[in-house]
Amino acid sequence: MKKAFTKIGIVMAALLLLAAPQLVHAKDLSGNLEIFSWWAGDEGPALEALLDIYKQQHPKVEVINATVTGGSGVNAKAVLKTRMLGGEPPDSFQVHAGQELIGTWVKADRMEDLTPLFKEMGWMDVFPKGLVKLIGTDKGIWSVPVNIHRSNVMWYIPANLKKWGVSAPTTWDEFFAIAPKLKAAGVTPLALAQNWTANHLWESVALASLGPDKWDALWSGKLGFDSPDVVKAWELFGKILKYTNADASSLSWQQATDMVIDGRAAFNIMGDWAAGYMTTTKKLVPGKGYGWVASPGTTGEFLFLADSFGLPKGAPHRDNAIAWLKVLGSRQGSDAFNPLKGSISARTDSDLSKYNDYLKSAAADFGKDRVVGSLAHGVAANETFMGGFASIMEMFLKTKDASMAAKACAQLAKKTGI
Ligand code: GAL
Repeated sequence: MKKAFTKIGIVMAALLLLAAPQLVHAKDLSGNLEIFSWWAGDEGPALEALLDIYKQQHPKVEVINATVTGGSGVNAKAVLKTRMLGGEPPDSFQVHAGQELIGTWVKADRMEDLTPLFKEMGWMDVFPKGLVKLIGTDKGIWSVPVNIHRSNVMWYIPANLKKWGVSAPTTWDEFFAIAPKLKAAGVTPLALAQNWTANHLWESVALASLGPDKWDALWSGKLGFDSPDVVKAWELFGKILKYTNADASSLSWQQATDMVIDGRAAFNIMGDWAAGYMTTTKKLVPGKGYGWVASPGTTGEFLFLADSFGLPKGAPHRDNAIAWLKVLGSRQGSDAFNPLKGSISARTDSDLSKYNDYLKSAAADFGKDRVVGSLAHGVAANETFMGGFASIMEMFLKTKDASMAAKACAQLAKKTGI
């Protein structure tokens, strides 16, 4: 009997301990919380779902959802840099796992180590080890991942393909075989948007051309950017560009997706936030309203990226920011956010029944495919390399000169220490 009481006592004490931090926060936290990201407009609903959970838990905190529009953070990252350098960090900001975080903000000693939070929340066991490596160094863990996105996906509308008598290509040769037919029917074979989406397309094409081993070798410095293999990848990319729309540079990624939805274009290669857009905003049913395949030549490969949020040194409302990180790293937060966002959970214990058919297939692929890191979305290279790469891309879009682009990348890699 006594033993049983002792047991109950221990269990109750443990429960109280578990509940305690949340209760304290719910009562005590007040003031502001500024969250900085590029998830504005159509990209907003998933973030709103997370913020709703936060507001329920911390009703006295005034949440400032500071967004700067522009896909892949093209504008937000510039604003963030100015603020960070000017000593005005937000409380927490969106940053990609990998070199965008480590080679930029951690290297500059601007982030707080979140190892104690990971330990407190038991996150060492729920986030995949490979992912924790990408957000960590030997000195600490520097952000909390909220999702896993796939970059190498080709999107289409099944009914349109049927109408045009084509099927989704699994290799670039298959694409080149059907593209003239589409063009003759007045359909753009591949929809493209502003310049960062060219970087996005490039990584899927380069992965197809190089294969995953050489892709990895590129980023570990074992394969030169000016090697014949890489020149070949640029040439293939140039050939593909001939089948894209002329007004690409003036379109947002959503507008390129719209071209596919409206039947003005057959395909688009975009990360699976496009699935979020088509499902959440456009109300299309995955598998019926829209279809997908791995981008040509990359079946069995998962070009991966993860959005995460960190705690900058000098965050004005540090406690509120830590409570925010707790929400976004939680199972509840993750499973509210990701089904709307078009990404899978970064946690290994997510409730897949909440995810649609596209996301279930992405989760299955992530479990069995060869996983490699995205360049366009921060995994493979730091911000300095990315900035230089964007300029090389601008030049290539004008000149289509593959060996010049390859040489310029080699110089850039040397300069930025790859
Ligand atoms: C990526 C980001 C995604 C999505 C996309 C388009 O860089 O990781 O979550 O926002 O840009 O803006």
